[in-house]
Amino acid sequence: MFKVNAAVIGAGFMGSAHTEALRRIDVPVIGICGVDKNESEKAAEMLGIPKAYACVDDMLKDLDVHSVHLTTPNRFHYAMTKAALQAGKHVLCEKPLAMTTNETRDLIGIAGQSNLTAAVNYNLRFYPLCMEAKERISRGDIGTIYSITGSYVQDWLLYPTDYNWRVLTEEGGAARAIGDIGSHWMDLVQHISGLNILKVFADLKTVHPVRKRPKGEVKTFSGKLSEIQATEKVDIHTEDCGSVLMRFDNGASGNLWVSQTTAGRKNCLRFEIAGSEKTLYWNSESPNEMWIGERNQPNQMIVKDPGLLSESVRSYTGYPGGHNEGYPDTLKHCFLAFYTHIAGKTLNAASQFATFEEGHREAALCEAILKSNQEKHWITV
Ligand SMILES: NC(=O)c1ccc[n+]([C@@H]2O[C@H](COP(=O)([O-])OP(=O)(O)OC[C@H]3O[C@@H](n4cnc5c(N)ncnc54)[C@H](O)[C@@H]3O)[C@@H](O)[C@H]2O)c1
Repeated sequence: MFKVNAAVIGAGFMGSAHTEALRRIDVPVIGICGVDKNESEKAAEMLGIPKAYACVDDMLKDLDVHSVHLTTPNRFHYAMTKAALQAGKHVLCEKPLAMTTNETRDLIGIAGQSNLTAAVNYNLRFYPLCMEAKERISRGDIGTIYSITGSYVQDWLLYPTDYNWRVLTEEGGAARAIGDIGSHWMDLVQHISGLNILKVFADLKTVHPVRKRPKGEVKTFSGKLSEIQATEKVDIHTEDCGSVLMRFDNGASGNLWVSQTTAGRKNCLRFEIAGSEKTLYWNSESPNEMWIGERNQPNQMIVKDPGLLSESVRSYTGYPGGHNEGYPDTLKHCFLAFYTHIAGKTLNAASQFATFEEGHREAALCEAILKSNQEKHWITV
């Protein structure tokens, strides 16, 4: 359907998730590049990808590659995105776009001077019921928004023996729980509500200031299944959890709790958007239903069924009602929006992917939250 060949940088959790989603929308994945030739070859063989590159430069020199999906640890995002744009490739970069606002600002400039499509993978926007929430809010169903509250909680870093590159400032950035998952929540509620977070007041906590790093390689989310190996102590300067009060640009109040140390919560994003007419509540661990709170009549529960969704959202569901859709479908639909844009077609508001400007905004929010936590007062973003 799309006359574009993709290549993927990074061969971990998201490298294979991107490959699978690209195939579902008929975009050929012609090459992959891991940390070295060996990882590239192993990934290419496992995923059935024709080319295994020895390094990113080799991929960027390949004229058959038209778009690059960047799925490496965060510290490589800036330089690789910049190099890919300069090589004339469309770029879909995993979140975060880069580690600082100086970097994200620079990338906006480079992307803006090109005719290339540039996106950040805030894929949670593409849950059909999140798109439906956006449609309903934009047509006034909820009324004036008074508050946006919620959380994003996980348990995979609960123990001091849990370890991943994300816990290190130099690998993942200065904000960890906030940057890794809080940024998904902030992107999602701003996209859905059409509001911007204006100022923040944060109280963050590092539960484990020292973690035990296994000697050798650790795959993302693999900690619970791996055997205990030899470890070394490592000082941690990034937060495991924390609260952020926020104020939106229409005056609405906000409140976000983020944690990677909450036993039993595997990957649980919740939001509640309360307006003058109704309230919308959604939880990513049961993504096919959304609660609609009413004051003067019984509350409702809408389920993901194309027949019940707004027309603009319908084409972003892949299956009839009753057939649950989940996280992998959000990647498929985010990429569908990205390649539709490359093909020159106009997108409706609900189906828009996150731009570099929005990636920059997330980086600015993370910096403001860290500053507020340090200085203990409100910070304007
Ligand atoms: N959008 C989402 O829902 C979502 C979910 C998880 C991760 N992510 C993002 O995806 C990115 C990757 O996360 P992950 O969980 O897949 O990590 P991972 O550790 O599982 O995989 C990272 C991969 O990058 C490779 N790599 C490291 N350095 C490289 C280099 N210089 N050149 C090429 N490859 C290199 C590693 O060897 C590994 O294969 C992160 O930026 C993360 O924030 C996004």
